[in-house]
Amino acid sequence: MAQHISAGHASGAASGEGAYALLMKAGDGATPPGLFSRKGTAMTRFQGDILLIGASRGLGLAMAEAFVRRGWHVTGTVRGNRRTALHDLQDRQGEAVEIAELDITRIEDITALHDKLAGRRFDMLFVNAGTTNANPEETIGAISTEEFIRVLVTNALSPMRVVERLDHLVAPDGLIGVMSSGQGSVANNLKGGREVYRGSKAALNQYMRSYAAREAASGRTLRLVAPGWIRTDLGGPDAPFTIEETVPKIVEMLIGERGKPGLRYLDRDGRDVPW
Ligand SMILES: NC(=O)c1ccc[n+]([C@@H]2O[C@H](COP(=O)([O-])OP(=O)(O)OC[C@H]3O[C@@H](n4cnc5c(N)ncnc54)[C@H](OP(=O)(O)O)[C@@H]3O)[C@@H](O)[C@H]2O)c1
Repeated sequence: MAQHISAGHASGAASGEGAYALLMKAGDGATPPGLFSRKGTAMTRFQGDILLIGASRGLGLAMAEAFVRRGWHVTGTVRGNRRTALHDLQDRQGEAVEIAELDITRIEDITALHDKLAGRRFDMLFVNAGTTNANPEETIGAISTEEFIRVLVTNALSPMRVVERLDHLVAPDGLIGVMSSGQGSVANNLKGGREVYRGSKAALNQYMRSYAAREAASGRTLRLVAPGWIRTDLGGPDAPFTIEETVPKIVEMLIGERGKPGLRYLDRDGRDVPW
């Protein structure tokens, strides 16, 4: 059976060793640092391999496309078995795109994905999936308990469950990222608004800080991303930025952050956002 080989950012190809030599080494079973081989797919070399959670539409779909454009292999997740725009991308890009199912709020889905991907090694895990409450301007005292739970479970609890349960699939020098929001910043909250969503992303940031402290010895790169206010289903039509002018920067920033261990909360230009 042929092999799929993914070259990480620190691969020998970048340091002058030819891709062919690396393929041969990997094929021999002596996988050099930054490369891995996987049974069952065609012998292809990619610049990296990302597991992208929540890639059916919006920023996640655009990130999948941008990573593929940069030569990466993307394993993107969608909810349920309905056809999505990620399937259209797969039709166009072939083996560069692989699709798996995951509703991040379902523990059984996370377990099934974990089992499906056992033995794989990713250069990056990025949890993009997120939601907001139906009426974003509802105050914290006015929201129903049910809706509060839905938003907090989706935006704060579930991304951390995904990170905790799938982190060992990420290379030791790989990057684990989660899509936060500028609205998750406690320090910058001077105007209020979008109270429930803000709180969910602030909680996510706090949980990620706890994870980073607990996993400090791992040496992995951990990033929370504040992408900016962007026109998507979630961002709405009044957002000042388009997907086209923001997502390439987010992807470029993430690729450039690899190899820098520890947690940072960054905007799409790689600038620190106050916690
Ligand atoms: N757009 C902005 O202005 C903005 C700003 C700051 C942060 N963000 C963050 O960026 C991320 C993406 O937002 P977006 O603007 O692209 O939103 P979007 O267009 O509404 O897309 C949301 C994505 O998350 C997925 N998702 C939602 N709940 C899920 C669940 N339980 N399990 C698995 N996937 C789930 C959706 O999948 P389905 O297709 O199955 O629903 C979809 O792929 C979110 O975390 C959001 O909070 C966005």
